[in-house]
Formats: sequence, structure tokens, C-alpha cells
Amino acid sequence: MKVSVKVPATSANLGPGFDCLGLALPIYNEITVEETVMPGSGIEINIIEEDIDYDILSVPKDKNNIVYKAIELLYNFIGQSVSDIKITVKTNIPVTRGLGSSASVIVGGLIAANELLGKPADDAVLLSIASEVEGHPDNVTPAMFGGFCLSSLEDDGSVSYSKIPWPEDWKLTVLIPDYELDTKIARSLLPETISIPDASFNIRKCAMLIDSVYRCDSEQMKKCMKDKLHQPYRNQLVKGFSELTELLENKEDILGCVISGAGPAILIVSVNDGFEKVQNDVKQIFEDLNVKCDIRTLDIENEGSKVI
Ligand code: HSE
Repeated sequence: MKVSVKVPATSANLGPGFDCLGLALPIYNEITVEETVMPGSGIEINIIEEDIDYDILSVPKDKNNIVYKAIELLYNFIGQSVSDIKITVKTNIPVTRGLGSSASVIVGGLIAANELLGKPADDAVLLSIASEVEGHPDNVTPAMFGGFCLSSLEDDGSVSYSKIPWPEDWKLTVLIPDYELDTKIARSLLPETISIPDASFNIRKCAMLIDSVYRCDSEQMKKCMKDKLHQPYRNQLVKGFSELTELLENKEDILGCVISGAGPAILIVSVNDGFEKVQNDVKQIFEDLNVKCDIRTLDIENEGSKVI
């Protein structure tokens, strides 16, 4: 028996919501988990590239694989050890770009394994395991449920979350450069402690951002996608980000420009033809930096993960 799950890409943080805000994008990975026919054959992990370049050699094919680790935690949760399984990942989400590729395979592996086991775990358990493996819940929550999600990893390992409708006319443009940035490296750049003024800045921007989404208030949103907790430290590794923020500051119909997750992809939120009006200048920034960049304007993905 085998189960396949389609899981969307995600963009986390959205500026002030470090480790707690995220939204899903309509780019998908497909994860298949199957019991192997030959007992005792162990685990088999296959990665199949769809339309992207993927450094297959860098992905562990043994018990260190994150999908396997997540599935192992699920089996432990029901008091069993993992049987012989085969995991196949068809990838469309670019890896190590800040688009939730690891969250997608963790979530897909968990949902597929849970189906195979007869659904012993509910969404809350799957989300908690996924957040444990990923280290934070802001990608895995929208990867599971789609849309724009708030999530909080609690001290007991559970995740509180809420999905808030995203305004229909707010467009998402992702700028995906042709180089990678490991989340571990991007997190290692962050300071151990932050100042009260910086914390206060992010708390008020994040609170107002959520209110802006609730009320579809574009004018207020323009003041909210700002951050002092992670972007100032990661900026140095995200090519073009300073130039873009300078270009887009106060531009009509641009609601924000932020590092997507830990980078190096960048997310721009706009209304009307806001992005179209600036796209040539945006392309020029990357050309000047000699960075190839795939630019995609997308609607939010509202469905989340699906067994197919
Ligand atoms: N919130 C995470 C970070 C997302 O910024 O490090 C990246 O996985």
C-alpha cells in the first residue's frame, strides 16, 4: 500500500512575524510513502526532480533524512518502530531558498505515513511533530492548512495556530535567486539577545499586520511588513534586498518587501498593478548584481496539503 500527498511551498515571517507568521504558495512537492514489499529491506529514499535543479547528492538517504525522522516520531507516538518503508519525493519547490521545501517534505511524509497507519494521529499531533523536526512552526502550519497562518510553538511542544483569510486582491510576488542559503547558516547570524526597542518595534508591527489582514487595510499594511529581529542580520547574505527595500519604499500599491523565511528568496506583496509598475526596476537590480532570478507572481494557496 502507498499514499501520496501534495504539499504547497510556504513563505514564513512576513517581516515582523519571525517564527510565527507564514503563508502557502501554489508550488508543490509530492511525497509518497509506501510499505516495502520485501520485509527487512530497510528504508529507501528517492528524490525525483521535476522542473528544478536539485542537488540530490546533498540529501541524506538514510535515517538522517528529515522525512524519515518525522515518520519515526509518528511511529514512536503510537508506540511502534518504523517498518520497512520507501519514501519518494517529487520536487518542484526550490530547496534552501526560504520557500519551505523542508517543511513540505516533513508535512507530506507525516500525512502519508499517518494515512498508511490508519490515521492514529490528529492534525494537532502531526503539527507538533512537524514543528519539532523543523524547529519552528511558521512553515509547517501553512504547508498543512494552506492560506495565511499564525502559529505559536508552546513550551509543551504543542502548536497553537489560526488561519486568517488573506485579502483576495493582495498579490504575492516571489523573487527566487539561483543561489542557496542554508537556514542553519541564516539562523546562526542572529544575535542571542535583542534590545527592548527592537522587540517593541516587531510586536507593534506584527499586531498591526494581523489587524491589516483581517480588515483588508492596504494603507495600514504598508507600515507593517518591517522587521528588526532577523532581516538586519540576514541582509548581508540576501543579494538585492537592501536595494529592493530602498526602491520599493513608499511606492504606490506596494504593501511590503521582505525576506522570505530565512532567504535568499524575497517576497513582495502588492495590490492592483503595483508590481507590474516596478518590475523592470526590480529585474535591473538583479541584473546589476549578476544574479539570475526567477520572478513569479502568485495567488495565495488556500487548500494546504492533500492526499492524492
Ligand atoms: N522562521 C524561520 C527563520 C523560517 O526565519 O529562520 C525559516 O525556516
